[in-house]
Amino acid sequence: MSSKTQHHYPLFNDLPISLKALYINILLVMGIGYIFAMIQIYEVHAGRDGKPTLSVEDIRIAYSGSKSDTRLEIALKGPMSSMLSAQERNIIVEWVRNGGKEENYQSQVLPIIEARCLMCHDGSNPHIPSLKNYSDIKNVAQLDTGVSIGTLVRVSHIHLFGLTFIFGLMGLIFSHAHMRSQLLKTAIICIPFVAIFLDIASWWLTKVSGLFAYVVIIGGSLMGLAFAVQWLLSFYQIIFSNRAARFKQ
Ligand code: HEC
Repeated sequence: MSSKTQHHYPLFNDLPISLKALYINILLVMGIGYIFAMIQIYEVHAGRDGKPTLSVEDIRIAYSGSKSDTRLEIALKGPMSSMLSAQERNIIVEWVRNGGKEENYQSQVLPIIEARCLMCHDGSNPHIPSLKNYSDIKNVAQLDTGVSIGTLVRVSHIHLFGLTFIFGLMGLIFSHAHMRSQLLKTAIICIPFVAIFLDIASWWLTKVSGLFAYVVIIGGSLMGLAFAVQWLLSFYQIIFSNRAARFKQ
């Protein structure tokens, strides 16, 4: 038997069955939650660059915008493509590419908008952007600049609170795990917090340089890795904690 002072902090095996049951339940629900979070990231970001899988380019476009397409062009290629003929689309795209000048608007663009778009985009539905006037069209014919500052502020604070809560709880559970190296155990508990910071800081910095899209991915991967290690070790040791107890001897 090792000395008592060495284990003054309880390991899983020292915990009452009620607390172990609570931990197992938390782990199961959070594990499923994490899988849904991964699916959500995929759903929201994959395909922005025109290819179906999730790529660094998708992340870059999401945060800093597409450098080549306007909202209008993206809509015409994507969800609005069935509203008009290819020829009509080309006329509008040409017009946007040539600077979207007002004098050509009347003769080239307005007739198409009136015939194909205004039945929905007349401004009467607040969820559909109005295309009634030249200035409305100019609004959607600007380069896509990615996530707005308002959205970033909202998502940042949700993630800062939410992830701190998740990794705080995970870390508390995992702190009962037996690991030979205290240093490694401490690192595994702290890494997600560094990753939260890296991840959120680089959402903002991706607006400045596309290279930070890599940091977003590194931050997210570190978080996922730390989550997996904490989850697996905790789950395994709670279920087989008698086994872990034998390590102590
Ligand atoms: C049958 C109704 C309907 C018609 C016709 C229609 N739209 Fe839309 N449009 C919508 C709806 C609904 C949305 C908002 C929901 C969405 O983004 O899918 C939308 C969204 C848009 C957006 C904004 C996309 C974004 O980035 O948020 C643009 C730009 C747009 N339409 C352009 C057009 C143009 C140009 C035409 C004519 C060629 C057109 N739409 C015809 C219903 C329509």
